[in-house]
Amino acid sequence: MNLTKIKEIFSGNSKQSNIKIGGWVRAFRGNKFIELNDGSSLKNIQCVINPETTDAETLKHISVGSSLIISGNIVKSIGSGQKIEISVEEISIIGRSDPEKYPIQPKKHSFEFLREQAHLRIRTATFGSVMRVRSSLAYAIHSFFNEQGFYYVNTPIITSSDAEGAGEMFKVSTLDFENIERNKKKEIDYSKDFFGKKTSLTVSGQLEAETYALGLGNVYTFGPTFRAENSNTSRHLSEFWMIEPEMAFYNLSDNMDLAEKFVKSILNFILKNCEDDLNFLSERLFNEEKTKPQIERSELNLIEKIKFVVKNNFIRVSYSDAFDILKNSNKNKKKKFEFIIDEWGIDFQSEHERYLVEKHFKSPVIIHDYPSKIKAFYMRLNDDKKTVGAMDVLFPGIGEIIGGSQREERLEVLRTRIKESGIDEDEIWWYLDLRKYGSVPHSGFGLGFERIVQFCTGMSNIRDVIPYPRSPKNASF
Ligand code: 4AD
Ligand code: MG
Repeated sequence: MNLTKIKEIFSGNSKQSNIKIGGWVRAFRGNKFIELNDGSSLKNIQCVINPETTDAETLKHISVGSSLIISGNIVKSIGSGQKIEISVEEISIIGRSDPEKYPIQPKKHSFEFLREQAHLRIRTATFGSVMRVRSSLAYAIHSFFNEQGFYYVNTPIITSSDAEGAGEMFKVSTLDFENIERNKKKEIDYSKDFFGKKTSLTVSGQLEAETYALGLGNVYTFGPTFRAENSNTSRHLSEFWMIEPEMAFYNLSDNMDLAEKFVKSILNFILKNCEDDLNFLSERLFNEEKTKPQIERSELNLIEKIKFVVKNNFIRVSYSDAFDILKNSNKNKKKKFEFIIDEWGIDFQSEHERYLVEKHFKSPVIIHDYPSKIKAFYMRLNDDKKTVGAMDVLFPGIGEIIGGSQREERLEVLRTRIKESGIDEDEIWWYLDLRKYGSVPHSGFGLGFERIVQFCTGMSNIRDVIPYPRSPKNASF
């Protein structure tokens, strides 16, 4: 059809006359002014028709939500609000829309309402911006790793291992639920199942990525992961996307360096390439925050927050030092935390993470060397035998955005950790093989894609940064 994108028109790079554009009507005023949007840009283009020369049938069917192809010329606008507009020569209605019933009206809708209209919410300014930023971040992630010489690997989605050892997995099965066969011990006989064993959706591609790092050197995955945890929070999804780099010959310090460089690089990319969308989202957030009490408002606007992260060094602090800061904080002494910090070894809750990032350090923070008891079996045991070479990157407003570690490369130490974690060695014999044949120190981390999209767009609920969110009791669309 050879259509010109609205973005090209605004950038001044398109031809000026006899252009054709296709899009959806965002507003129609005075039987004359059409606000058209084709998804390429935040801004709508105003298309001006002459009601006298446009046939009545066409006029009748131009309404919010209908799709049109418009031919015309780019002209200077005499009206206020826009510099240029399209003077319409010809207009074709491609798909009608019932203006009475179309759910997305040119007014403010709540995000709760729009979640129920997830198939149409992409036609709003906010979701258009969020999803363009999301797409740019994905592109920036692939570019970064490509430039750094990493290989992109695809790890399996159906798996028989539980990478995080947390057991919060969705089962994958073709067994007949109505009529499940059990053996004499009343156990389900998974040998009769599709794969001949118990299988689930993956919670992480890490273990398989490790095998590839110990052959290709530096690799990364970028794929969907699934967690059947019953967390109904604004930062948890049951299906989310994760980026997991894994590097041979990297220690924990190299790992932290890479994580920081990586995040800064992708934030820089969107600062340069998503200016319009970020300005709009920044303004949106500012207006949303105006409705909140003063103390809950952030001092920086969205763009300033992103720039702050790019410009400043992430503060690195060990778990033990973070523990002392928290324990001795006035907030803890006055028992203002829901979970009081008393004994070394407890896991930090998001209230503690936020205190460290937003109140104490006022900066992104990397906490490293956590107690081994609260971390996964594959993390490298430190010489103190109490802590492991783990790292979590914490961001303002979000909390944990990255979790990673140096991996345990010593066979016997790993075996002990596996046993302590109650994992069956036979299930991950291949993972142990890596430690038998040419084992090397190696490290990696996982960035939650939706969490970084949340940070960059200022959306307070993670369900609004993925097209079709999955969460407990919710898998519509
Ligand atoms: O800390 P996690 O569980 O780490 C791993 O899965 C490791 N295997 C990663 C690695 O070392 N290769 O998850 C990593 C990140 C978290 O920091 C968080 O940003 C995100 O994934 N995440 C979630 N995002 C949305 N919804 C959830 N339920 C999430 N759980 C984790
Ligand atoms: Mg984690």
